[in-house]
Amino acid sequence: MTELKINGKVYQVNAEEDTPLLWAIRDSIGLTGTKYGCGIQQCGACTVLIKGRAVRSCGVTISEVAGAEITTIEGLSPESRHPVQKAWIAEQVPQCGYCQSGQIMAAVSLLERKPNPTDKDIDRGMLNLCRCGTYTRVRKAIHRAAEMMKEVS
Ligand code: FES
Ligand code: FES
Repeated sequence: MTELKINGKVYQVNAEEDTPLLWAIRDSIGLTGTKYGCGIQQCGACTVLIKGRAVRSCGVTISEVAGAEITTIEGLSPESRHPVQKAWIAEQVPQCGYCQSGQIMAAVSLLERKPNPTDKDIDRGMLNLCRCGTYTRVRKAIHRAAEMMKEVS
């Protein structure tokens, strides 16, 4: 058994210690907002926050993150009210939507590190892939979220 702390709740996961976190999140715990894209840490669809930093959950094992605070898209805010989620809606970022929870989690982590990111910071910090090519809207939404976060702080 491995104990995982996800979105403020504690789960006992009955799986091999080298099980990728993504598998545990989706299959054992049933939080399906975190997506499987490539399984080899390339696309970012599976991004979650671990201790506030964006991590590709297909690339870490459950034993490596046992006891750490993990946040998935479901736990980001009550009723999708996080400024990044609001900015995503305002800018109508998603197309098919598949990559978007990973994009949002990566953006939250970026804004933690860089509250006023330049376009260059965004391009360097956001390495998640989007097959629909929503990159321009992702960038606009991150700028909008940064403004919203300044207003509330
Ligand atoms: S599924 Fe994890 S990076 Fe693609
Ligand atoms: S919105 Fe379709 S893959 Fe990004």
